[in-house]
Amino acid sequence: MDAEVLYLNGEFKSLEDGWVRIEDRGFELGDGIYEVVKVMNSKAVWLEDHLVRLYRSLGEIRLTDASVGHEFETVLPELVERSGIANGMVYVQVTRGHAPRDFVFPHPPNPTVLAYARAKKLPTEEEIHRGTVLHPVEDMRWARCDIKSTNLLAAVLAKEEAKEAGADEALFLDSEGLVREGGSSNVFAVLDGVIRTHPLSNRILGGITRLHVIEIARALGYTVEERAFTLADITSAAPAGCEVFTASTLKDMLPVVRVGSHQVGDGKAGTVTLTVLDRFRQIQAALVGLPEPRPLAAGR
Ligand code: PDD
Repeated sequence: MDAEVLYLNGEFKSLEDGWVRIEDRGFELGDGIYEVVKVMNSKAVWLEDHLVRLYRSLGEIRLTDASVGHEFETVLPELVERSGIANGMVYVQVTRGHAPRDFVFPHPPNPTVLAYARAKKLPTEEEIHRGTVLHPVEDMRWARCDIKSTNLLAAVLAKEEAKEAGADEALFLDSEGLVREGGSSNVFAVLDGVIRTHPLSNRILGGITRLHVIEIARALGYTVEERAFTLADITSAAPAGCEVFTASTLKDMLPVVRVGSHQVGDGKAGTVTLTVLDRFRQIQAALVGLPEPRPLAAGR
């Protein structure tokens, strides 16, 4: 059985033996950041990219020193090994730690650094072909969505609303109907043969999956533009052959078959989406030492 192992402030222990103080600023103020790294074949995938983003998030909340003494490059693979999980995730969180409740920073800071691994099923071929459904909502989040902050209430409410509407994921729109990203994913569209996604800004998280999808799609010869599109572009005014997909660490790329009450394209996983995803899955499998997966585009 997989052991639930926790790394907490420099020590490995069982997950149920891990505690944080009531006045931890992560708990009371949401004063912290996090990362989610995928584990495949007992390897942390694209770990270096996640660590670059983790250090950036720490810098943006002025908590850079919190990572000193925590060698995430070796601690996280060790955590995966100790946990014995083959597929799943590593969750990492760093908060400004416990101090008598006050908005301003405690001096000196007393960060809480934790990570644990958890087994999780990655999407199956059937789930990929079945596709995913998005539920549009107005983006109520703060203006620093580029920081992977633990302040996730707006996403929690949006994703719950999506679930209650029978959808799988929320789709955050600005007040003009421009598509920003999903509740916990980046969103791409294929419009007139061009793959488009919202440019990096304070309004979206710079996804690691997004980064690799763009690189892989370009290497396959597709034109990729970091140029936002509207809800109308992918629904009522959508050109024939329009495709939409999400991109996130634990779900890779998922074809979107419906947005609200609108079917996307012909309501099936799109050819461009599956072609890029096939290459994405090949590259990932090779990285973690797994055999090449069966192509999905052929099964369309
Ligand atoms: N979420 N946008 C948002 C708002 C996200 O929360 C995420 C990831 C992404 C995709 O980023 P990446 O490809 O690096 O996973 C985009 C993680 C998985 C989560 O909160 O569980």
